[in-house]
Amino acid sequence: MKKGLFVICVAALLATGCKSTGNTEEERFIEDLLGKMTLEEKIGQMNQLCFDQPLDSIKAKIRAGEIGSMLNIDPKLIDEIQKTAVEESRLGIPLIIGRDIIHGYKTVLPIPLGLAASFDPQVVEAGTHMAATEAREEGITWTFAPMLDISRDARWGRIAESLGEDPYLSGELGAAMVRGFQGEHLSDSDAIAACVKHFVGYGAAEGGRDYNSTYIPETLLRNVYLEPFQKAIEAGAATLMTSFNDNDGIPASGNDFLLRTVLRDEWKFDGFVVSDWCSMSEMMSHGFAADRKDVARISANAGVDMEMVSQTYIEHLPQLVAENKVPMEVIDNAVRNILRIKYRLGLFENPYAKPGKTSTIYCDEHLQTARRAAVESAILLKNDGVLPLKEDQTLAIVGPMADAPHDQLGTWSFDGDKNRTVTPLRALQTDEYNQVKYIYEPGLDYSRDTDTSDFERVKSAVRRADVAVVFVGEEAILSGEAHSLSNINLIGAQSELLKAVKSTGKPVVMVVIAGRPLTIERDLPYADAVLYNFHPGTMGGLAIMDLLYGRENPSGKLPVTFVREVGQIPMYYNHNNTGRPAQNEITPLEDIPLEAPQTSLGNTSFYLDSGKDPLFVFGYGLSYSTFEYADLNLSSNEVSATDTLTVTATVKNTSAVDGTEVAQLYVRDLVGSIDRPVKELKGFQRLFIKAGNSQTVTFKLPVSALAFYGRDLKKKVEAGQFDIWIGPNSAEGLKGSFTVK
Ligand code: BGC
Repeated sequence: MKKGLFVICVAALLATGCKSTGNTEEERFIEDLLGKMTLEEKIGQMNQLCFDQPLDSIKAKIRAGEIGSMLNIDPKLIDEIQKTAVEESRLGIPLIIGRDIIHGYKTVLPIPLGLAASFDPQVVEAGTHMAATEAREEGITWTFAPMLDISRDARWGRIAESLGEDPYLSGELGAAMVRGFQGEHLSDSDAIAACVKHFVGYGAAEGGRDYNSTYIPETLLRNVYLEPFQKAIEAGAATLMTSFNDNDGIPASGNDFLLRTVLRDEWKFDGFVVSDWCSMSEMMSHGFAADRKDVARISANAGVDMEMVSQTYIEHLPQLVAENKVPMEVIDNAVRNILRIKYRLGLFENPYAKPGKTSTIYCDEHLQTARRAAVESAILLKNDGVLPLKEDQTLAIVGPMADAPHDQLGTWSFDGDKNRTVTPLRALQTDEYNQVKYIYEPGLDYSRDTDTSDFERVKSAVRRADVAVVFVGEEAILSGEAHSLSNINLIGAQSELLKAVKSTGKPVVMVVIAGRPLTIERDLPYADAVLYNFHPGTMGGLAIMDLLYGRENPSGKLPVTFVREVGQIPMYYNHNNTGRPAQNEITPLEDIPLEAPQTSLGNTSFYLDSGKDPLFVFGYGLSYSTFEYADLNLSSNEVSATDTLTVTATVKNTSAVDGTEVAQLYVRDLVGSIDRPVKELKGFQRLFIKAGNSQTVTFKLPVSALAFYGRDLKKKVEAGQFDIWIGPNSAEGLKGSFTVK
């Protein structure tokens, strides 16, 4: 690099670093400590290792001040390792101990996609707080969650770990997770630091294949992909992780625009940035860095404060600083950011595990929290009247997921003990359900099983029962990181199992336990009711029984569109319109006349074989109650950019059963400087309404919430006409309109 250019770059970096003012006690502490550190000790703070070498050699490195953080180590070793840092290294700087506490530590909650189906920030916050309490008790001070990657592709295995396809819902629930993990104060004994990830665009991997490239233009990036991150940072997220993908050719761990301009300058983030696992050294595979030294230079200058696992910082930063290729100020600011979070966690005073008098792990309160979350996360997709079940019916319990204690926990459950899992079958053996008469005949041993030799036994069991409950889905290993699929039908012989059960003529309840929205259209004719559960965690079996028996009323709504065929992907509710929006046409392929003229099937945007509509839309979910929406009212039909619009409607429970409805508020900006989505979620509320009663739902919509990044890349509300809906999902509802002056 030419010298002049280098000076300009350094000046720019200094302007965008997170510099210390030294005014507060916290900053004075950090400056004081920083002043005592050698360059090597500073770089050591920027180095995070996993346990891939003998304990003695790890300890030697910690003693020498070469490690700032450890991840995913055996919790039993945490205090021993921490003691080495605190008592045996020169400056005694404690380690920050990270672990993937994604949906519970020991007590496992539903996977995040399930939590999102609750549309309930309170339940999500309580669940994540439970996880933090259990983890901190064992000395874990940092989780790599929440994952806020917008996911519009069910093939992508990590959709399981996401909060779905919508930026507003992901932002609201992501912020709830940050509050849950971090509690009132990070230093409390029930708080750990959150890490919002993966910054950014990872969920848009081409073809749904994990780690793949993304091509997200800046307007879409800002209007959709960045929104949940910004909300989580505003909620106080202490750390942020870069993603594996390159977007438009720039790997996230080398993207100074994202890490400095957006994150630090615009959002004023003052926590620290960690790379993903070797995502820095993988920039060589991407073809973005020539060698390991280049990796360290690019990431440090781009704004990655801590390197996860790949160790290019510890190897090359001393030399890069000596050569003036990485300014000292970049190192100092990275270390300040890291020390700031360690300080806020109270690690300098309380570095060790914090066991209370009695352990909270698997305590009753936590089990109840997990059960409530699982109840609220289940979505009733179909019910011809067979549900709720009656207490005097004999059940045939069928299918590989009826008793799959490991798989029910879902992806990222390192720590959950499968012996503590209450599967649906085990739920029937508890005091709460032991009066139920049932015959258990699984038919298949696991989801991929193709051996149909037990099917006759299954049919005979079903004939002896009143109702068959068929538990199908996916093993945990089929979703999550690096577990993408190109075929998302029910796997193995599960569809055949359903057909065999249905052939008996008995009513069939299909209970799905899976890590993603599967393509289940072909299975629906063989089920009289469908209850969908994203891997529901430790208490899933009891929650499912509560719902099947109507002791709880289903209230979950889909956080993601269910497509009819995998070839429809990507399909999401908040898409732009085409110039030729589809009408309602579907053309059965066999009805197309031979040599039909080119334009005879219409010239609009749809698939000849699967139309324009998904199987189930975003926001959809049934209940044992029925609800009617009426009386949409807007406080004004003309508003200005600084106003708040009040929108109300009456929701009536028209059934004889008390129930909870998630009322949803959507808007459409009819004309913009860039095309705007056909609908965008702007609010939701869970309403508990007693049988036969009505409730008014009131949404306060600040007009500023309609702002977006338009053609000039500035965020503002554009004047014009808007449509607005309050309804039960993204396809139905009462419609009104208003104008922004
Ligand atoms: C994942 C991250 C995770 C990290 C640490 C990576 O492979 O992408 O989400 O937090 O590993 O386990």
